[in-house]
Parts: sequence; structure tokens; C-alpha cells
Amino acid sequence: MATLSIQPVPLPTQQSPQSLPEGAAVLITPSVQPPFTAIRTLFDHLRSNPAAAASLNATYPKRGIFKSAALTNKLSDQKFTIDLSPTRTSLIPATLRSSLAPHGLEEVTSFFKSVVDNHVSDILSSLSQIAGVDISPLHATKNINFRLCDYNPSTAAPLSENGCGEHTDYGTFSIIFQDGQAGLELQDPLCPTTWHEIPGDATIILAGWCGYILSGGRVCAVRHRVRRMPGVRRLSAVLFVAPDLEVTLKPLVESDVRFSKEVMGGKVRVGWFKDVMGKRWRWREGNLEVEEGEGVVQDEEVGRLVFG
Ligand SMILES: [Fe+2]
Repeated sequence: MATLSIQPVPLPTQQSPQSLPEGAAVLITPSVQPPFTAIRTLFDHLRSNPAAAASLNATYPKRGIFKSAALTNKLSDQKFTIDLSPTRTSLIPATLRSSLAPHGLEEVTSFFKSVVDNHVSDILSSLSQIAGVDISPLHATKNINFRLCDYNPSTAAPLSENGCGEHTDYGTFSIIFQDGQAGLELQDPLCPTTWHEIPGDATIILAGWCGYILSGGRVCAVRHRVRRMPGVRRLSAVLFVAPDLEVTLKPLVESDVRFSKEVMGGKVRVGWFKDVMGKRWRWREGNLEVEEGEGVVQDEEVGRLVFG
């Protein structure tokens, strides 16, 4: 059994006298480190082999797996992503999987499996303690996704600082692994103009909207973003954990937070909430055209839904 070390995030005090509330973000010492050489190899292979990228995307035609909108869209997040999950990985035909194995795919999938096996239930237990209610049973189906990010300097807007626009994750929690390059920033919940830089070698757990709502606001969901440094490549690996899709998103404990009538009335389910949020984040990432409401900040729209 791997040991899990959870410590408060050490924030640079010169930026703000305030530190993030307990449970807002924690650093962990993971039992496994991401295979960043394999991750770099996989991105390089898919970018230089359009046929391989097309074959991989054809296994999940609804959204694709390798996303490269940043090659042509200057306004979207300037990053490339590879989106996997246990379900998507199982859909990749054996021949394609073995052809991608030497280019990093197997190392990546086994890394994420280790993280799930070693850490997810422990983190759900820790969040349950903060929430004051056991949220683990709401995660029975393992609604988990894996994302690799390549903040590559070679995009449509090479000088843009926007690696990933500010947002709050939708699920219960996310684990962000980084390759040593800084760029991840957390917004101070008490001082929204202050962004705390997270050290590039830290592995961090952040809660999302579902964790916030289920815990009645006791688990803080922190807004974050990634700033690029021109000319610098940065890689990250992220594991997203969300409640089962049919779970009703409603506080499970007494709460002082004024949630919307829809939330308190049990009208919001995880699967529907994910669809609403997904539309916005695909727009920000350049993978979806949205005609109405362009420019609406993702969190503002979700905030109206959650708080009324
Ligand atoms: Fe995020």
C-alpha cells in the first residue's frame, strides 16, 4: 500500500498574507512519477504522424483523443492535449495500441492505472473527512479521466501567455503532475486579483465543483490557470475524478452556502452538469464553436447555475 503524504501548499507569502483555506489545495508525494519522456515522445509522434493521430481519434469519434486546435486557433488555450480514460483506452484496437506502445502509450496508461490504484480511494477518504460525510460511495463506477497536456511553444500564437484559461474543474478532485516547469497558478479565493504560483515540481490535488457542492462548500474548489513562458515547453499529466454520472449534485451536509433552487431541489445530476461545463471548456480549448454567449467566463455561467 502506497503512503500518501498530504501537506498544506506552501504559498509565497510576499504575494499575499492570506493562505488558501484548508482543503483548497494540497501537495502530495505520489507513489509513482509520470513518465515525462514517454509523454513527450507520444505528443511528438502524434504531431509528426497525422495518420497515427487520425487513427487514434477515430477510436473516439465523438470528441477525439489528440486535440491540436492550438495549431490554428490563436485565441484558444495554447496547448495540445491527449484525453484518455479507462473506457477510451479499452476502445483502442490492439493493433493500434501495439503500434503506439513504443511511442509512449503503454507507459502512460500504466502510469495512470497506478495512480488510480494507489491514490484515489485515499484521497476520497481525506476529502470525506473535510466534508464531514463519506463521499466515497458516490464514486462506485470510477468516473475517471486522464489528460496529458503539452504547453508547446510551437502553436498559432507562440508568444501568448495563455496556456490554459482560468477555470474551476468540474469533478470531485483532480491530481496535477508537472514536469518541473512552473506555470500553474491558483487564484486566492479571498483576493481574486492574486494568483499564487505553484512550484513546477509539485504534485497538487485540487477540488472541483462537484466536491464543493456535495460537501456544502467545506471542500474549496479553487480557480486556476496555466501561464506559458514563450519558448519554454511544459508538460503535465492530470487525473480527474468525478462522482458517478447519475449522482444528484446536492449538499450532503448542513451548509451556510446559498445554493440555487435547482441544486437544493435535486434537479442537477452529475452527467448533465458535465455536459454544461464541457461545452464551455471545449470552447475555451478551441475544440467547439459556440455561437451564443461568446466571451462568457466559464465559471460565471456555472456560478449562476450553482448559486442562482
Ligand atoms: Fe483544471
